[in-house]
Amino acid sequence: MSLFVTFEGPEGSGKSTQARLLYESLHARRYPVILTREPGGTRIGDLIRRIVLDLQHTEMAPTTETLLFSAARAQLVSEVIRPYLEQGGIVVCDRYADSTYAYQGYGLGRDLAELRMITAAATGGLRPDITFYLDISAEAGLERKRRRHAGVRPTGQRSVEQEEWNRLDARELEYHKRVEAGYRELIAQDPERWRVLDARQSIEALAEQIAAIIEPYLASIPRLEAVP
Ligand SMILES: Nc1ncnc2c1ncn2[C@@H]1O[C@H](COP(=O)(O)OP(=O)(O)O)[C@@H](O)[C@H]1O
Ligand SMILES: [Mg+2]
Repeated sequence: MSLFVTFEGPEGSGKSTQARLLYESLHARRYPVILTREPGGTRIGDLIRRIVLDLQHTEMAPTTETLLFSAARAQLVSEVIRPYLEQGGIVVCDRYADSTYAYQGYGLGRDLAELRMITAAATGGLRPDITFYLDISAEAGLERKRRRHAGVRPTGQRSVEQEEWNRLDARELEYHKRVEAGYRELIAQDPERWRVLDARQSIEALAEQIAAIIEPYLASIPRLEAVP
């Protein structure tokens, strides 16, 4: 058995924070686990990430954007995610295909049937076992991210990776609201897979809830041997 866990939600909702905390707690307990992110997570994917998120690339056509995200995903699935799952490991991924449906589909108005075909090609049909949705309004999430971007950080909170304010963040609030509504539709279409958590809670409270949801799935994952 293996376990594929993804994190979704608006920017600033705490995905990277919680993905890292989950990875760290599983790693500390000697579970075979890797942490990765989209777009990126591979050498080729990180190069694509730079192109797709660059604020200067204002001329990028929506189709280009969609295909670049999908290309990065194809590389990540084939190079990292699928091989690790095939070995029986746990993969924690910060964003995955649902982000394409939410951002390029509902956000940019791309045809969802077409996105499903592109995604099927990119992933070979690989779907997460569990997807956490960190639920916060687009405004509140962007405000958290903007504040961090401005260098003002609420005290007592861990910062994860220094993420730049990127080309997608800079789109208008209406776009982000369509994304949020899109996520609600995706959740309604596949309620078994999604776990919706109130992202306004403390980092620690969220991490506890996520750990509790993951726990039953761990029974089928053998831990790594201690190195003598
Ligand atoms: N539960 C939380 N409460 C308050 N601030 C948080 C919480 N989770 C994350 N943050 C802060 O919000 C910002 C965005 O978090 P991050 O994990 O990078 O979000 P995302 O990856 O979803 O964009 C960071 O400064 C982080 O420290
Ligand atoms: Mg992040």
